[in-house]
Amino acid sequence: MLIRQKHKKFLLSEKDMPSAWYNIAADMKNPVEPPLNPATGKPTTAEELAAIYPMAIIEQEMSAKRWIDIPGEVIDILKGWRPSPLYRAYALEKALDTPAKIYYKNESVSPAGSHKPNTAIPQAYYNKKEGITRLTTETGAGQWGSSIALAGVMMGLEVEVYMVKVSYNQKPYRKFMMNTWGAKVFASPSNNTEAGRKILAQDPDSSGSLGIAISEAVEQAVKGKNTKYTMGSVSNHVMLHQTIIGLEAQKQMKMAGDYPDVIIASCGGGSNFAGIAFPFLQDKLTGKKPELRAVAVEPTACPTLTRGVMAYDFGDTAGMTPLFKMYTLGHEFMPSGIHAGGLRYHGVSPIVSKLYEEKTIEAAAVDQNPIFEAAMIFARSEGIIPAPESAHAIRGAIDEALDAKKKGEKRTILFNLSGHGNFDMQAYDDYLNNRLKDVPLEKSELEKGFKSIPNIKF
Ligand SMILES: Cc1ncc(COP(=O)(O)O)c(C=O)c1O
Repeated sequence: MLIRQKHKKFLLSEKDMPSAWYNIAADMKNPVEPPLNPATGKPTTAEELAAIYPMAIIEQEMSAKRWIDIPGEVIDILKGWRPSPLYRAYALEKALDTPAKIYYKNESVSPAGSHKPNTAIPQAYYNKKEGITRLTTETGAGQWGSSIALAGVMMGLEVEVYMVKVSYNQKPYRKFMMNTWGAKVFASPSNNTEAGRKILAQDPDSSGSLGIAISEAVEQAVKGKNTKYTMGSVSNHVMLHQTIIGLEAQKQMKMAGDYPDVIIASCGGGSNFAGIAFPFLQDKLTGKKPELRAVAVEPTACPTLTRGVMAYDFGDTAGMTPLFKMYTLGHEFMPSGIHAGGLRYHGVSPIVSKLYEEKTIEAAAVDQNPIFEAAMIFARSEGIIPAPESAHAIRGAIDEALDAKKKGEKRTILFNLSGHGNFDMQAYDDYLNNRLKDVPLEKSELEKGFKSIPNIKF
């Protein structure tokens, strides 16, 4: 009997790992506006950023060089789980009975369970090289905090994490994971910082937000000795480090003999979207693949791209960071406590924002229940239980595949499985027992957030 063998997994060897990150700034039609110092209204200087970042990171943040070398020591650590596999989702295709081909890059294979170590490792490396001994950061769902805890222990650095209170309570095992790697974890808002104390004085029951947690982590970095701040998303250097995902995926799609018509990723601060999409978008920006589509999927509870405005705004709630030109809901916007904690951020990467403004990329917003419906379809076909954040990408991919079916079209879909959901079981239990609520975001709530956007013209 003839057995048709399907090629399910596309694997690269260690020697195929990219040796340089791709900086999309070199190919963008319109340059991103610079961050501004809120005190002077002028572009932030490298010296000002030095209060929170090491010089090597600042250089990357401001660089227009197309390719930036990945240090050998960083590659050696990333080899622990990279190159990550690319899968053809045959079982999902079958479950949907679609003519579309669906591929996904599996970033859940890192020790922390997501794409976040791709930037945590280089950030810890550059800090260590410049003599820093302690790192601070914020975390939403705990994926980023776990990743920086992992990077800290690998580089011999202390780590202090401010974890958004709603996630701290929803996901205690993420906290234990960070503790296991030696990090100190505080529920944010906390009493450790002025920013936290101020919020608690106004609202003792505050469930926190990424914006508040960033304020606390930045404050601790500025005040602390030999301490710097690390950011899990939004900043240009984070987008850069994550391009290792798409650079590998380009080689793997070639192995599969395919090229995506559409690339889909969830979007919080924009880093996993940037990671998978930017290397392919080079083909679109340089005219090789003008039809290529890329879709960023966000929650309706925090619809930064789809309902936000492009404006200069602070990256954090207390207004301690520079002003970034980005899509924002206002730095005081307080999203509801949805389970995709990593997507509860009021802003999004200035680069992703610019690409959206000029219509190079698309965005969609989806409610929690259809997100978990997609997560269930995926878990029961492909077997992997996705992180609630990643399930946004799955929803986007499923909708594309169903649209292709409706239209009787062939379509090649690539999405990024940014992480697994093995620590998100409360969310799954809530979904399975009909406890998840989809609360519409009222215009009045949005308008309240918009009021906090400073009136800056540049
Ligand atoms: C698994 C996972 N996916 C996606 C995100 C969203 O962040 P970003 O848009 O920077 O990829 C997060 C953030 O914590 C995450 O943990």
